[in-house]
This record gives sequence, structure tokens and C-alpha cells, in this order.
Amino acid sequence: MEAARSFLQLTRPPYVLKADGLAAGKGVIICKDIREAELSLEELLIKERFGKASEKVVIEEYLEGTELSVFVITDGKNWKLLPEAKDYKRIGDGDTGPNTGGMGSVSPVPFASEEFMKKVADRIITPTIVGLTAENIDYRGFIFFGLMNVNGNPYVIEYNVRLGDPETESVIPRIKSDIIPLLKSLSRKSLKDQIIAFDPRTAVTVMLVSAGYPGDYPKGLEIYDLNKVSESLVFHAGTAISEKGDQVLTAGGRVIAVTSLDENPAEALRKSYDSANAINWLGKTFRNDIGADILKI
Ligand code: GLY
Repeated sequence: MEAARSFLQLTRPPYVLKADGLAAGKGVIICKDIREAELSLEELLIKERFGKASEKVVIEEYLEGTELSVFVITDGKNWKLLPEAKDYKRIGDGDTGPNTGGMGSVSPVPFASEEFMKKVADRIITPTIVGLTAENIDYRGFIFFGLMNVNGNPYVIEYNVRLGDPETESVIPRIKSDIIPLLKSLSRKSLKDQIIAFDPRTAVTVMLVSAGYPGDYPKGLEIYDLNKVSESLVFHAGTAISEKGDQVLTAGGRVIAVTSLDENPAEALRKSYDSANAINWLGKTFRNDIGADILKI
């Protein structure tokens, strides 16, 4: 507690406190002044608000900017960039309401310019791969860098050793090359010989969710009109087939993702929203502002 208190004196508000263990996505507290920060520290360290998860607390710099998700594929020695994406985590339009697993995504991200991505490569990706080697970790697969663009500089928010959802639904459709040889090359450590071609079109993914999600929601509702979708890819997430096999039913919070591609970002958006509107079930919910902040339409 004493060490944490003295460290707070060296930093500036707002203070970001993070329970170091798993806390169901609720372990981050943002405090506007030192008094609030000290009370929160007490809650975490002494009153053990998150049990063992808050035995150790990380005090972080507060960052303000726009998030983006950057993905690489690596054979442990070499790495290659995949298309980047931006996801939309809150349930409500204008980034309001509770966090979800993700309500939609867009790829490419217009502010991920060559200059910005060079900083990402030099400051974040290369040191990460070098670090894995230095620690004798033979990691082969995808790395997900959850970044924030703070005045043109990338900062790491989180790492994941997987792709993202719903980023994948925008990212994979933008990879024009065959993905199988790419994956095979990882086991042979020959990724450097592979060429990954990107589709330059914009991909927009809109996630359709159950009413009530991310809280409680009903399951087993019939989904209608899937066959009315002709301009988008339809990804089933929380769906099931009825016992008789004649109906598609809801079976989760995030039910279906629709992705559309187009040279014109406005058209990609239009197609995904037409598809989102065409599919129906009782209480179907989606965000109406996917891409609105970055696509500048
Ligand atoms: N969309 C964020 C994640 O997959 O973690």
C-alpha cells in the first residue's frame, strides 16, 4: 500500500488502477484525483475487492485516443502483418453502455497510415517477436496487439494470442491469398517465403445480438429471413438448429455477424446495414454507428 501511495505521487491524474488478475473485465478503475485513487487502492489491496485478482495492482498511465487492433502471423522468427481493424466494444451507439465482446468492426482503419504502421512495427511488433525469442518461447500463430493511437503514437493496451472477434469477420475476408499455405508455413518456419495479398476494399461487420445482451437474454428464438441476405457474408456465432432441423434459433448473446466488402466504404456500410435489417428475430439488436467515427462518410 505504501509503495503504491508513493508511486501515485510521481504520476498525474487521472490515475488508472488495474487488478493484475482476471476480474471479468471489471478490474480497471479510473480515478480523477489522488483521494479517489487512494480509496480505490485500499479497496483493491486491503479489502481485496477482486479476491486474489487484486492482490497485485498495476498503476498505469492514462491514455486518450482511438483504439485499433493490429494482427500479425508469426513462425516465431519472421512475422507478417494482416489487415488491421477497429472494433466497437460498447453495446450502445456513440460508445455508450456496458462493454460487450464486440458489436462490429471495420477494416482497413483510415488512420493506420504507412507512417503510423511503421511506428507499430518498429516500436511494438519487432520488439515483441525479439522478446519471445529472447525468452525461448517458440510461439507460432497469430498475435493480436490491442493498441491506442495517442496523437499519432501507438501504445499497447493488451496482447492476445489469437485473432479478435468481431475483427476476424472483417480481417479474414480481406486476405486474398490462400490462408492454408500460410498456416502450414508456420510449422516449417518458412513464413518469409509467403506473400499475403490484401483486398483493398473496405470491410464492415455488424454484429446482431440478443435483446438484453450483455446482460441476461432469451435463447431459442426463431431467426427469420436469412435467405434474404445476398450482399453480405453471414457468420453464425450464437445460433443453433432446432431439433427437427427446420429452424435456425438464437443460442447466445452475439448471434450473427454480417460482413460486406466494397471499394466505397459507404457502400460496404449500406450493404451490411441492409443485411442487418433483413434478418429478423424477436428483440434483434445492433449498433447503428459502426464505422461512423472513422470512415468519414
Ligand atoms: N474484439 C476484441 C477481442 O476479440 O478481444
